[in-house]
Amino acid sequence: MITDYSERLVVQEVSPRDGLQIEPTWVETADKIKLIDELSVCGFTRIEAGSFVSPKAIPALRDGEAVFQGIARRAGVIYVALVPNLKGAQRAIASNADELNLVLSASQSHNMANMRMTPAQSLVAFNEVVSLVQGSSISFNGTVATTFGCPFEGRIDEDVVMRLIDAYQALGMQGITLADTTGMANPRQVHRLVSRVLTQVPASQLTLHFHNTRGLGLSNVLAAYEAGARRFDASLGGLGGCPFAPGASGNICTEDLVNLCDEVGIDTGIDLAHLLTLSRSLPALLGHEMPGQVAKAGRNCDLHPLPPRFG
Ligand code: COA
Ligand code: ZN
Repeated sequence: MITDYSERLVVQEVSPRDGLQIEPTWVETADKIKLIDELSVCGFTRIEAGSFVSPKAIPALRDGEAVFQGIARRAGVIYVALVPNLKGAQRAIASNADELNLVLSASQSHNMANMRMTPAQSLVAFNEVVSLVQGSSISFNGTVATTFGCPFEGRIDEDVVMRLIDAYQALGMQGITLADTTGMANPRQVHRLVSRVLTQVPASQLTLHFHNTRGLGLSNVLAAYEAGARRFDASLGGLGGCPFAPGASGNICTEDLVNLCDEVGIDTGIDLAHLLTLSRSLPALLGHEMPGQVAKAGRNCDLHPLPPRFG
């Protein structure tokens, strides 16, 4: 039972990256820029604005340079780029990304499917990236994908995750993200692992990245918050998923998360009304309904008029 809701929960918005990477419909560069610019005024301090990966692997985000160069940078917002290797880092730096998010999987099989490398080979590539960027103002975040379970291998040994965290810390990463790539985490598992990780990583540097694939996304957020985590990834409309993870589906939905926080009294600094307006524009952009719920139901305070005969 959470007793203290007084500490702010930081939401990193990932719809421009995790959200769009799996969409079959091409989103024009100008529309991506507009989405990021509108997200920038909703109160986010961190937005993952794109990735610099192979355009063959993720064609939907092949315009990363144009997107990063076209956005209206808002003071106080960190614009993050996901990169898998040195080439991605070079592209992200040339595009003025503020932070590089380096991703590998705890599971060998998922890293092979997603990055065509073993986790050890990914770490060698990250070493090169760190050497390239060291001394600049660019920060690094290291993500451990499939932390809570892998669609190919099942449950992941927590010691493997801890060793990858050690490796990230040895590389000097300022942030660590634990990602539940296909929504296999449960609240008990999350509470246990987050408690353990927080003995080694300060809460200000730890991000949890949940997908709602099995409906446990927000339960996992509360379990992680209760264990002391304060930073969470979420995606507008509940978009998202890794195209190289069978059965992947959307991230936890940002407006559903902010609504939860508003209702229980956890500050996020994010303007929910604005976010809802933005989320409701997504079906027209992408041609399908969104999985998020609050955009459909409205907030608790969005009351309806009584039917006329009772008015
Ligand atoms: N950006 C653009 N192009 C890249 C690149 C990058 N970061 N990294 C490699 N490439 C290009 C190479 O230049 C080469 O191009 P060519 O065929 O024109 O010569 C081609 O991709 C193959 O390069 P290689 O190093 O052999 O890569 P690969 O085919 O083994 O793929 C990755 C490795 C990591 C580049 C690829 O698997 C990838 O981009 N994965 C990311 C998947 C992803 O984003 N998943 C979701 C987020 S977790
Ligand atoms: Zn994800």
